[in-house]
Amino acid sequence: MRDGTQPSDPRLIVALDFPDARAATGLATRLDPGHCAVKVGFELFVAEGPALVERLQEMGFRVFLDLKFHDIPNTVAAACRAAARLGVWMLNVHAGGGLEMMRSALEGVRAVAPQSRLIAVTVLTASDAATLRSVGIDRSPDEQVLWLADLAIAQAGLDGLVCSALEAERLRRALGPDPWLVTPGIRPAGAGVDDQKRIATPAAAIRAGASHLVVGRPISRAPDPALAAARLLAEIESASGG
Ligand code: C5P
Repeated sequence: MRDGTQPSDPRLIVALDFPDARAATGLATRLDPGHCAVKVGFELFVAEGPALVERLQEMGFRVFLDLKFHDIPNTVAAACRAAARLGVWMLNVHAGGGLEMMRSALEGVRAVAPQSRLIAVTVLTASDAATLRSVGIDRSPDEQVLWLADLAIAQAGLDGLVCSALEAERLRRALGPDPWLVTPGIRPAGAGVDDQKRIATPAAAIRAGASHLVVGRPISRAPDPALAAARLLAEIESASGG
């Protein structure tokens, strides 16, 4: 394989960006846990907590817990252990929290659930050069992404990164075949862009080196979410050459 995924790892991750469990499980029941994972973010987790994660896992889904931890190393390690104990498939931290924080987080995860994947967020796509300057960073966003990617992967040993599809090619070249590159901002050709600015089609993202695609509204707002997911999967499969 061209990245560190196993054949059984779903490459499609459906974002459950909903306010409550009812809406989230409503979409989940229309999806096939054999073909896609689900992502639980701040809004849903704050509203529904671990019970919803457990429910989704009982339904057979792998869960990406997208809480982007960033705090002192001890606190982040404890949060990561708690998430790993829940049995989540993937979770994340902010690379900007530093090397010690990421190493502690990884130790926490590995101690509890060696199979859970810990990935890092580098520079949020909502941040531009002016945002970075305002917090005292003079590098361009591109340079800062590579800097933090090296810190997270080469130095801390994390399993992958969240990145835009437009960053994936450079990161894949810099990091080699193993790290997971998990990319949101995916829009099938001809779909509406919503509030996303830098988008890529599923095929373009895979060709650029993404290992996993995070897709929300193109599936959740489709008249037939199962069909929308199946079409995305077909595009992913064909771009992956398998
Ligand atoms: O609906 P849509 O496909 O735009 O949803 C994308 C998901 O990926 C959302 O949960 C969003 O918060 C997340 N995300 C993103 N861009 C990033 C990081 C995460 O869109 N840079």
